[in-house]
Amino acid sequence: MQAEQARPVAVVTGAASGFGRAIAQRLAREGYWVGLIDINQAGATETWQSLGGEGHGAVVRADVSDEAQMQAAFRTIADQRGRLDVLVNNAALPQRPTRVESLSAAEWDRLMAVNVRGVFLGMKFAVPLMKQQRRGSIINISSVAALRPRPGLNAYCASKAAVIGLTKAVALELASDGIRVNCIAPGPADTPMLPGFMADPESETGRQVFVESVPLGRFIRPEEIAAAVAYLASGDAAAVTGAVLNVDGGRHV
Ligand SMILES: NC(=O)c1ccc[n+]([C@@H]2O[C@H](COP(=O)([O-])OP(=O)(O)OC[C@H]3O[C@@H](n4cnc5c(N)ncnc54)[C@H](O)[C@@H]3O)[C@@H](O)[C@H]2O)c1
Repeated sequence: MQAEQARPVAVVTGAASGFGRAIAQRLAREGYWVGLIDINQAGATETWQSLGGEGHGAVVRADVSDEAQMQAAFRTIADQRGRLDVLVNNAALPQRPTRVESLSAAEWDRLMAVNVRGVFLGMKFAVPLMKQQRRGSIINISSVAALRPRPGLNAYCASKAAVIGLTKAVALELASDGIRVNCIAPGPADTPMLPGFMADPESETGRQVFVESVPLGRFIRPEEIAAAVAYLASGDAAAVTGAVLNVDGGRHV
């Protein structure tokens, strides 16, 4: 039981698909017990099964933009495990290309609520647990879209730029508590999110535009984002905080 309590604990939001699933799988292989937060319970349960099920993690259904649900999710995990070592704020919504004058305030608010408020709430409820241990690693998933915007992705690009600003501000704030805060800016990846950025999700040309924007000439693989998370979570990154790690095949250059 003592060994079990010493096992490190990670929480991954948006763990039902794409990067979140690959991140959860990698952290489980690194020896973490993984809390899987998502609104998609069925998808998160599939991820949980892929980790080996019971004993390797738990699914906690929550909308990351909802304060009460996030507070309850972190309380559930703290009650079960009594510690938290790593938080990966990964859940987000894409945006269909929309000119700024046509974007509704409701669409703007929903995107900001999930992509920015969700990251804030994750940190709000994780940090007190990490402070008890005087150590922890928080990894926020931004996007190359924050650095190299595309026309029509106004709210999405703004939300991902906000994640970078928030990461840097909180990194400074928590440095003296032994908690590191970094972010990853992925390039385009062929996950279920990708069609959400296309004017015509059915068209092959839409996908080609994304591939051709990457100097390495290919999509980023979820496993490559998971490897960056594993690095930032590890002791190898003990001197790294407030950083933006571009994993984008050179797209940001
Ligand atoms: N796919 C890409 O090309 C790309 C590129 C750069 C950055 N990103 C970022 O990577 C992260 C993961 O994206 P992905 O491509 O794996 O997308 P995805 O759509 O496959 O996964 C996103 C997950 O977030 C969950 N989610 C959405 N809204 C939620 C909410 N309100 N509460 C809880 N969970 C919610 C979804 O159910 C889903 O499981 C996101 O932050 C995204 O912005 C993706």
